[in-house]
Amino acid sequence: MSNQQIVLVIGASRGIGLALVEELAAAPNTLPIGTVRRPSPALDAISNVKVVALDLADDESISKAASALPELDTLIINAGMGQRDPVTSTSTADLATYLNVNVLGPHRAIRAFLPALRARKTRRIIAISSSSGCITQQALPGSIGLAGCYGTSKAALNMLMVQFHNELQGEEPRFTVVPIHPGWVATDMGNQPHLLALGSGGMPPATSAKAILKLVDGLTPEQSATFYRFDGEKMPW
Ligand SMILES: NC(=O)c1ccc[n+]([C@@H]2O[C@H](COP(=O)([O-])OP(=O)(O)OC[C@H]3O[C@@H](n4cnc5c(N)ncnc54)[C@H](OP(=O)(O)O)[C@@H]3O)[C@@H](O)[C@H]2O)c1
Repeated sequence: MSNQQIVLVIGASRGIGLALVEELAAAPNTLPIGTVRRPSPALDAISNVKVVALDLADDESISKAASALPELDTLIINAGMGQRDPVTSTSTADLATYLNVNVLGPHRAIRAFLPALRARKTRRIIAISSSSGCITQQALPGSIGLAGCYGTSKAALNMLMVQFHNELQGEEPRFTVVPIHPGWVATDMGNQPHLLALGSGGMPPATSAKAILKLVDGLTPEQSATFYRFDGEKMPW
């Protein structure tokens, strides 16, 4: 067994996922693996990164990726979709698309990569969630951000992570299962005009990615099933 840390970032073509892989590629003793749905010149330009095809909405592509990766220390599920889609004006079919990518996708991926995670001792599962999935904050008057369908899916993602934590806790070595809010980040998702109209804009992807990886690096199984902000602050569920 190699002592290199093998870290898989699902959704690494652009945005926060790309920045996570860029940071991991510069870290010592680390093998970053990034997934894409279609070729990403930006990801291909980073050296020492393994690139794998994967679509979170497609079981077959996830099985194929999992069979190519027998060992993983850390699984970071970063991929997600999000626009302004209020639940009152969005069809149930469109809400189902959110749930398919943001909730069922992570469920597919975690189940598929469990054997690879069990093959190593680190056993970290990280989901890039959102403050929009924080029910405590969303229930306050005037909550902002991508709420609606997106917030619904991220709240379900958080619960999925807690359920994986509960079911995996009996295993040794122990798993660490954590959802993380990356902050407001200047990506395609974070730069949507209606969001930019609400404030000063998001932080650079590298700033969020650095902080997320610092947090992830220090996580222990005792911190599993906690909802964190990128800077290590605990978020309410
Ligand atoms: N930006 C923010 O301010 C912010 C705030 C809170 C939470 N987040 C969360 O942070 C994560 C990354 O967001 P971002 O801002 O970097 O978004 P982004 O710039 O829109 O990038 C989204 C990434 O997800 C991938 N993706 C989308 N659907 C996928 C699917 N079905 N299968 C596989 N990959 C898929 C995209 O790949 P393609 O290039 O193939 O489309 C892309 O790599 C998301 O989970 C998002 O909800 C972002």
